[in-house]
Amino acid sequence: MGYQIAIDGPAGAGKSTIAKLLAKKKGFVYVDTGAMYRGLAYYFLSRGIQPQEEAAIAKACNDVSIDIAYENGIQQIYVNHVNVTCHLREEAVGNMASRSSGIAVVRAKLLELQRDLAEKENVVMDGRDIGTSVLPDADLKIFLTASVDTRARRRYNELLEKGESCDYEKIASDIEERDRRDMTRDISPLCQAEDARLVDSSDMTIEEVVETIESFCRESE
Ligand code: DC
Repeated sequence: MGYQIAIDGPAGAGKSTIAKLLAKKKGFVYVDTGAMYRGLAYYFLSRGIQPQEEAAIAKACNDVSIDIAYENGIQQIYVNHVNVTCHLREEAVGNMASRSSGIAVVRAKLLELQRDLAEKENVVMDGRDIGTSVLPDADLKIFLTASVDTRARRRYNELLEKGESCDYEKIASDIEERDRRDMTRDISPLCQAEDARLVDSSDMTIEEVVETIESFCRESE
């Protein structure tokens, strides 16, 4: 069993940025579980399935293979042996992932893959239910959050930098809606594990967050 760091938290709290940096510093493998949900979501959309068609999603889940690989240290998602990584950040894929991740067969399919990875390697794994469900015995659990306003502002600036037009109010309401869905679903809802350390990154720089988590690591070693 490898050393396991679980990082959970809402969309836009900076989990992937922080987890990636932390993994690099510690020489661990970074596992982005959201990308796995997005990979399946991309597949459902490519089959013409709509987010509300739960029965069709569950059925399609039985016919699909999902694999994870690392190329130059960067996680790649393969669906039916095709690399779909470049599609995963699309808005429609994110929305579908948020819906389809509430379906039991979808979660069961990915749970095994996630536990397998953490069995073989030292990992920093980020998601919504890593500390509560996927790796309940993780060596260190972090619940990384930030205010809705901070997260919306970060996303707004990100889109502006990419030259995409965007509306701050719409971004903030989408974030609230996704939080609500992630926190209120029946299976593995987003919540802080009892033994997780809370880090609120609203007024912290990326470096400060990484340093804080590294200091927790030293305490837990
Ligand atoms: O972190 P992300 O935005 O890439 O995640 C996409 C969706 O997948 C998100 O709406 C919730 C879901 N998800 C989940 O249910 N459990 C995880 N461990 C990771 C993501």
